[in-house]
Amino acid sequence: MNIIKVKNYDEMSKRAAFIVASQVSIKEDSVLGLATGSTPIGTYKQIINIYNDKLIDFKNITTYNLDEYYDLSEENEQSYRCFMNQNLFNHINIDKKNTFVPNGKAENPEKECKRYDSLVEKSGNIDLQILGIGSNAHIGFNEPDDKFAKGTHLVDLKQETIDANARFFKSKEEVPKKAISMGMKNIMAAKKVILLASGENKAQAIKSTIEGPINPSVPASILQLHPDVTFILDEDAASRLNK
Ligand code: F6R
Repeated sequence: MNIIKVKNYDEMSKRAAFIVASQVSIKEDSVLGLATGSTPIGTYKQIINIYNDKLIDFKNITTYNLDEYYDLSEENEQSYRCFMNQNLFNHINIDKKNTFVPNGKAENPEKECKRYDSLVEKSGNIDLQILGIGSNAHIGFNEPDDKFAKGTHLVDLKQETIDANARFFKSKEEVPKKAISMGMKNIMAAKKVILLASGENKAQAIKSTIEGPINPSVPASILQLHPDVTFILDEDAASRLNK
């Protein structure tokens, strides 16, 4: 486990963007696993800057997003598909046909979960997975539970997740209560994982993830078993770590 401590959100974003840029330059047909939410927005901005400097090319890159709200169509502005288009895909030369997000409108979610898992597996698994973390230590929308979820699955979001995500919606009532999330199998099968965290509200989740026991009540703690995981933490997110 590699831990990089940086000063603030801006430095976290730059460090993460460099790692993504190196991955894309070393392997031009890389498969990237992507997250949404506030945390990676700065990283995506930095990636766009590096792209505009003509240092990286996304022509042959494939991406898989971790999750999508259930029952939101991809046209909905709050959907993670829209988020990805607005914050990254519209600004780089990626072929949108090679960008995958679970279909939140799938009539048969179970079938959609299986389809998504087999797509990821057919791509030869993810080369570099970017993760954020919830204040309850969820990754993707793998919420605290009494077991780790293996495959892509339909999740009932925890109240704390609904509350945290309400900031993106006009009212709390509008926040979807369910999501389709990649499970731990595909996350753990990624060749390299970077987890980004910024802010005091993530400090306890980071401490339990890194220093606590591996337990599904702290979903991110499973990353202790990953052979190549790097945590990029700003001062506030790292503030409760023992060293
Ligand atoms: C979103 C995702 C979530 C977020 C987490 C943190 O695709 O996978 O696990 O990373 O909820 O969200 P922010 O970054 O908004 O604090």
